[in-house]
Amino acid sequence: MNYKNLLTQLNAGVLTLTINRPEKLNALNQQTMEEISNVIDEVYENDQIKAVIVTGSGQKAFVAGADISEIAEVMPIHARKFAERGQEIFFKIENCHKPIIAAINGFALGGGCELAMACHFRIAAENARFGQPEVNLGIIPGYGGTQRLVKNIGRGKAMELMMTGDMLDAKDAYQWGLVNHVVPAEQLIEKVQEIIDKITQKAPLAISQIISCVNAVGTPKDGYHIEANAFGSCCRTEDFKEGTNAFLAKRKPEFKGK
Ligand code: COA
Repeated sequence: MNYKNLLTQLNAGVLTLTINRPEKLNALNQQTMEEISNVIDEVYENDQIKAVIVTGSGQKAFVAGADISEIAEVMPIHARKFAERGQEIFFKIENCHKPIIAAINGFALGGGCELAMACHFRIAAENARFGQPEVNLGIIPGYGGTQRLVKNIGRGKAMELMMTGDMLDAKDAYQWGLVNHVVPAEQLIEKVQEIIDKITQKAPLAISQIISCVNAVGTPKDGYHIEANAFGSCCRTEDFKEGTNAFLAKRKPEFKGK
């Protein structure tokens, strides 16, 4: 498996999938999203892969979100489709019959937090930071974040996090139930591997049925559809242009509600 923006390593049945754009804090551009989609297809099909670890390259970030320079260009005409395609790829992760665990080694923001939440569960390094800061750009999460964040941390906390764009540190993410364990950065992969070793000794069909049953808990697809439409609407606003331009120019945005 050769990819431009991903590293993959298969070791004793465990595939480590590393998002590899460290100079952009592993931001998800469309090529990276399609490459993730291809890897997950391989995970579905390849019997040698028993479990997957998803992580980010470098010391600083898991994934710092969708690539803002790219969405600033692509939007607004294709915005809804952009969200729907991201949702589709993340559903493929969520519904995979083999365990996919996120090892959060730094910023997990926007699409990065959404990618982490699409995984079956999350282990964080002490330096991990979580958030849905899209509101700072005049938009909303579009890869399932409005739905999965509520499921993970509850309605009130999800509302606050999305409305303020604030970040959660690893300790709060643990207290809020977003991550299962927090460990020193140098022990992160070891901890995930230890959990995977336990899981892969169990009956694979039972594991796959656990994933299906857990995913069947309260999943109205309507919410995702509404999210993709709302993401598309936000991307047609002047505030969205202002938010992305301000980020790229490294200045504070001035939103006008238009
Ligand atoms: N999309 C595109 N580029 C991104 C990015 C993103 N989501 N996040 C970071 N980068 C780029 C920066 O533009 C910068 O590139 P440059 O060196 O060419 O200027 C590089 O990654 C390093 O980021 P920088 O902002 O300098 O690091 P920092 O330590 O000062 O701040 C963050 C880290 C994560 C707080 C900050 O990068 C950030 O807020 N990123 C955007 C998060 C976001 O809004 N995500 C949701 C997008 S929908």
